Amino acid sequence: MNVGLLGFGTVGSSFYDLTRAEDKGVKVTKILSRRVLTDVSCAVTADIEDIVSDPGIDTVVELIGGLTPAYDHVCRAIKTGKNVVTANKHLIAERTAELYALSEKYDVSLKFTAASGGGIPWLTSLSRASSAENILSLGGIMNGTSNYILSKMYSDNLPFDEALKDAQSRGLAEADPSADVYGLDACRKLALSSTVAFEKIFDTKDVLTYGIQDIKANDTFKADSYGYKIKHYAYCERRGDAFTSFVCPALFPFSSAEASVSGVNNVFSYKPYGSGFFSLSGPGAGGRATALNVLADCIDISRKKERFYGKTLSGKAHTDNGRKSFKWLIRRGEKYDTFNASPASAFNEYEKNQKDKQGALLALICERDEYDD
Ligand code: HSE
Repeated sequence: MNVGLLGFGTVGSSFYDLTRAEDKGVKVTKILSRRVLTDVSCAVTADIEDIVSDPGIDTVVELIGGLTPAYDHVCRAIKTGKNVVTANKHLIAERTAELYALSEKYDVSLKFTAASGGGIPWLTSLSRASSAENILSLGGIMNGTSNYILSKMYSDNLPFDEALKDAQSRGLAEADPSADVYGLDACRKLALSSTVAFEKIFDTKDVLTYGIQDIKANDTFKADSYGYKIKHYAYCERRGDAFTSFVCPALFPFSSAEASVSGVNNVFSYKPYGSGFFSLSGPGAGGRATALNVLADCIDISRKKERFYGKTLSGKAHTDNGRKSFKWLIRRGEKYDTFNASPASAFNEYEKNQKDKQGALLALICERDEYDD
């Protein structure tokens, strides 16, 4: 397989190094970069046309990130018959319908395993499982930066702002960490996961999304005293013809897989009808780990062409966040309370109280026995 590589940042350069270190049948023959690259032994161009018009390139690996210019480049690549592999969750989650339709029309593969889980082979496992089983629900700790911040607040008794600064100083959190802290990054990963599991297009705007911005060090200790850890959780569940889909803080019992995931690690789980949870955990970010998943996608394509994880999407998912009740913890100012409500009502209750000058925190209480079939 000959690859045109778009972008040479942390993941792009790691991917390039992996293809050079060992012959896995994947060769980078051209790189798109605006910077001059001195230590690479292939052609470098600043013009996407040099790559998409190259008949020797069969696959484009997009590792630029963001929507612009990645969306235009990926569309051009598909329209010229190239397979596409990307780690770009923003791009795939916000443009699922268009990119799925294009990959069908031009009969090319579009794979994005590293976009949801970094180095964890989550989407491939989920795709395989959902071909054989009816998935009832899926969820996980999908944002490494938030998990790192919460782990630091808990282990070092740091206030939120200092834990965030620590994450930034270690190069974990972005200079603008808002997508991580306010839950958008996890929302995108949840939408992608749901699309692969349920074969529908999930609009990120339908996912109730709330980040870790309200969590105070005291909340982590309060949760601890009740035998729970506070985590940032993304969850989607099928109920009849509709889906419940939300992202928010959540309390997990110490004995759960989620409670023991610390630092930048992620954990992803799915539950088929009539059986328990299956989980995968590991590094959800990082150059080499993410690049390994990108390389694995390329190898999968070269062995067996599957357009979109072998899935046929059947329209837009119908999301109804008022359909099922869950158990919640709410802090209004300093006062904690628990209640049962649908995610739509619980988020409304939080928003009402959050406007109060004392602030509020909402967290799902995860008692998995409740998640019956
Ligand atoms: N900002 C992301 C995270 C990187 O912290 O999880 C990996 O997607």
